[in-house]
Amino acid sequence: MCGIMGYIGEENAKDIVISGLEDLEYRGYDSAGIAIVNNESINIRKSVGSPSELRKLTGNEFGNIAIGHTRWATHGAATAENAHPHTSESGLFTIVHNGIIENFAELKAVLESDGIIFRSDTDTEVIAHLLEKNYNGDLKGTVSQVLKMLVGSYALAILCRDYSDTVICAKLSSPLFVGTAEEGSFIASDVSAIAEKSHRLYRLNDNEIGLVKKGELKVFDLDGCRIRKNEIKLKAFDKNDGKCGYEHFMLKEIHEQPTAIRNTLKEIITENNQVFFKNFHLSSKAIDELNNIIFVACGSAFHVGFVGSYLCERILHKTSSACVASEFRYKKPHLDGNTLAVIISQSGETADTLAALRIAKMQGAKTVSIVNVENSTIAQESDNVIMTRAGKEIAVATTKAYSAQLAVVYSLIFYLAQKNKSITKSQSEEFIRELKSIPEIEEKILSQSTGFYKYSEQIIQAKYICFIGRSFDYCTAMEASLKLKEISYIPCEVYPAGELKHGTISLVDKNSLIFALCCCEEIKAKTQSNINEVISRGADVICVSHDGEISVPYTDDIFCPMLEIIPLQLIAYYTAKKKNCEIDKPRNLAKSVTVE
Ligand code: AGP
Ligand code: GLU
Repeated sequence: MCGIMGYIGEENAKDIVISGLEDLEYRGYDSAGIAIVNNESINIRKSVGSPSELRKLTGNEFGNIAIGHTRWATHGAATAENAHPHTSESGLFTIVHNGIIENFAELKAVLESDGIIFRSDTDTEVIAHLLEKNYNGDLKGTVSQVLKMLVGSYALAILCRDYSDTVICAKLSSPLFVGTAEEGSFIASDVSAIAEKSHRLYRLNDNEIGLVKKGELKVFDLDGCRIRKNEIKLKAFDKNDGKCGYEHFMLKEIHEQPTAIRNTLKEIITENNQVFFKNFHLSSKAIDELNNIIFVACGSAFHVGFVGSYLCERILHKTSSACVASEFRYKKPHLDGNTLAVIISQSGETADTLAALRIAKMQGAKTVSIVNVENSTIAQESDNVIMTRAGKEIAVATTKAYSAQLAVVYSLIFYLAQKNKSITKSQSEEFIRELKSIPEIEEKILSQSTGFYKYSEQIIQAKYICFIGRSFDYCTAMEASLKLKEISYIPCEVYPAGELKHGTISLVDKNSLIFALCCCEEIKAKTQSNINEVISRGADVICVSHDGEISVPYTDDIFCPMLEIIPLQLIAYYTAKKKNCEIDKPRNLAKSVTVE
């Protein structure tokens, strides 16, 4: 998943590469490493933890070429030995890699039978050894030959001791960008890490090899033919404006949700409360003909899609489902021109979500992507994009992007439903008015933010925790449970309230804590019965409802997910804080999951 960064030019390469890696940290932060080329020698420094550790390790070292890596371990523990860069036996080749080599075990077995001793448990190391084993003096030819042996995904930056003026790079599936300027050239997994310093920017495509020298990029296909590259022009990208006085980015971003929703809606709702998408239009006939609306996404974005599927059935009266992107292709979906696939991703780089978009397009479905990062791969590859305007989200646990995604999904469904006449113009306007009022209601909940601290001790003490709800409450329960798990490391479950009695209720006893989400008026009485069932078995219950212990202002049932998540995000936050967890960068996670 990791981020790779490289520089070749007149400046101190190490400083540029380390600060680039810090920008890429959202892609993984379990360990980091750098190779600095100084005359004939290549110095490698590696460390467990984030790239800033490399500043201490490299001190005053100087070199005009460097490649670096911030890792999210896929193969081999997060140790310094497994951190990249990896080298071939004699040190002729040094590489950094983002991706997974799926056939590494077979390749490793052959290399070991040749007597090569591996120094790490990574899949990546095979590439370094294969390069040395197949090297015939022709760098580009050798790299092509080795790439053809690899199955899986990679973005690679490679140094070869014989070519002291070149960094060679290549990619398959994982993203890679090259930037050039008079004084030097840059390589990075994410264009935002090099955009400001580069005069010209290029996106490397799959099966392309880039020879990068100072101020110059030459690109070839795997057969050695030169490819002329067009520069890419970037749209403005969101900047990190710091914590603005908040203790953590997550808390800041929780408080930014009203603004994220307002900014998102500003672009897609007209003054007279009509939905208008600049980059997505379907005729009434095409909407009539839709027989399947499928939401595909991962993690929290999937939870947004789950809400979308409930809304579609209820408001648009169309068959709809939500599918976790990592399972999408294994379901062998049957999509056609009457399917609308709604792809949701904050980063726009999630590998499984991107793969789902490609499948949906290949099968001829109509597609629309909801993305927060304008220059991302999903945004680039989508025929239709609706942007969320949450601004840069730094905390790994998403909050403001989640809310902005919800705002787009509601707008999308009101748009389709009004065109389809499953709701009238005035019903749609009424819904939109209510949607537009959500930020103000959120602000009221957020003004009592610190009050949610009081639940943390009870959560930490509980032996069993479960979030339950029905309908839209259940959708929110899924997100609430994920938030608590990912930042506080407290195991908890989520169940449709009515499903509990089919097995899971056997776990409930006097040491259990049940979060009951009960804001949907329509099914309140039913959820109340389930609450009584767990109370009868001794559980403590914290109820989120219009008049419960945690009280959320009244809205139409369909908008419950937008409001009831706010106190639950705060509860997760304060529980993680009480446990002294790394809130913005929880263990084992990365902000953007670019491996399958
Ligand atoms: C949520 O808090 C997560 N960290 C994670 O589930 C995230 O929503 C998921 O990885 C999808 O990311 P994306 O929106 O960037 O595609
Ligand atoms: N598979 C490589 C490793 O585990 C690269 C990891 C990645 O891209 O996340 O080191």
